[in-house]
Amino acid sequence: MTSYRHHPERIAALVQDDRVHRDLYLSDEIFALEQEHLFANTWVYLGHASQVSEPGDFVTQDVAGRPLLMVRQPDGAVHVMYNRCAHKGTQLVTDECGNTGRFFRCPYHAWTYKLDGAPLGLPLKNGYEGTQLKACESGQGLSVVKHVKVYRDFVFVRLSDSGPSFEDYFGEVLGAIDNMVDRSPEGKLTVGGGVLRNIVHCNWKMYLENINDTVHPMSTHESATKAAEALWEGRAPTDPKPMAMEQMLPFGSGYEFFDKMGGRVFANGHSVLGVNFSIHSNYAQLPEYEAAMRAAHGEERAAEILQRSPQNSVFYPSLSVKGSPQAIRVIRPLAANRTLIEAWSFRATGAPALLFERVMSYNRLVFSPMSVVAHDDVHLFESIQQGLRAGGNEWVSLHRNYDPAELAQETITTNGTNELLMRNQFRAWAKSMAAGMEAAA
Ligand code: FES
Ligand SMILES: [Fe+2]
Repeated sequence: MTSYRHHPERIAALVQDDRVHRDLYLSDEIFALEQEHLFANTWVYLGHASQVSEPGDFVTQDVAGRPLLMVRQPDGAVHVMYNRCAHKGTQLVTDECGNTGRFFRCPYHAWTYKLDGAPLGLPLKNGYEGTQLKACESGQGLSVVKHVKVYRDFVFVRLSDSGPSFEDYFGEVLGAIDNMVDRSPEGKLTVGGGVLRNIVHCNWKMYLENINDTVHPMSTHESATKAAEALWEGRAPTDPKPMAMEQMLPFGSGYEFFDKMGGRVFANGHSVLGVNFSIHSNYAQLPEYEAAMRAAHGEERAAEILQRSPQNSVFYPSLSVKGSPQAIRVIRPLAANRTLIEAWSFRATGAPALLFERVMSYNRLVFSPMSVVAHDDVHLFESIQQGLRAGGNEWVSLHRNYDPAELAQETITTNGTNELLMRNQFRAWAKSMAAGMEAAA
């Protein structure tokens, strides 16, 4: 296989206007370069502030291969630090989450740190008198991640010192988070019901592409939708559907439905699929919830918030948001051929319990490792990862609705089955990789 390190021009050649090279999915070296450059230079989703609600609460999470620690401070702020003891590098905490009390104590030689990472104390102090420890990095306490943005309680980090600001990077797509939070009558979300984790044996980019792929549900999910349709056969369209039925049936909506739902791409790989409507648009109305929304936001604004329900909004490269039904998926790349997918459910403060039941039902049905939908996709991602090793054709087609005019525009609204949403991700990929590799050269 080609060597890519120190060769940004070879990286650039992998992304053509209407197709991409298979090495993007297969090469371990490219994966390592992505960790160094792409994931360090872009804004990556770390977690939700409600996961650390009390002072001393922490969450550990690797981003771009670096172990990080998100901690709630006594003054209410959320800090992110590297999970590495300043002495010899032991991870201060190894649990996924917990509460550390008023300080961190390293399990190895018992150095202690305040919640903001400042050094607190160490045993056998007198042995350090007259040494350079205080002036050295190790005497300064924990290293903090400087570029942290808490946007309406969604916590993002940028590990590199160079790179775009949070607002410049995400731009208009932030409206998808606003809409999700505004769906709470009190403007507040909290994670609920734990997390569903799924390790998929495929490249992370394949998963993100699929989030924008509307041509596959009719074939890939045929057995699941046909089973739902058979169960529902003979019922009148007006019959109230059980929640699971309401969530499953739209997967079989047909090519025209998905084409008409429309999509929109933005600079830096972000997109919104379902700008006109989506598989979530026709869920039953919840009068009690809608009344609470009108009371909180006023008639017009409440209608505007609730009417908007895209299928997926991609915050490239790590997050996919479903405003309705208040679920997110987080993409955590582990290796060129291994990706951890997390599905989280949110509770909207001030909304009836039924809204939370809806997201729990959706996540179990569609995203859990034992779902009736996700396993169809997972099976095919693993198949692609193997299939791409075949000889004869080294390229992956992204030709659908390609138009050379799209190259000159950053924001485009288009039909829902246009592979532009994927081409847009790969153009952003090439751009971030080039920027990172040039900065490192
Ligand atoms: S490695 Fe943490 S105190 Fe020694
Ligand atoms: Fe799918």
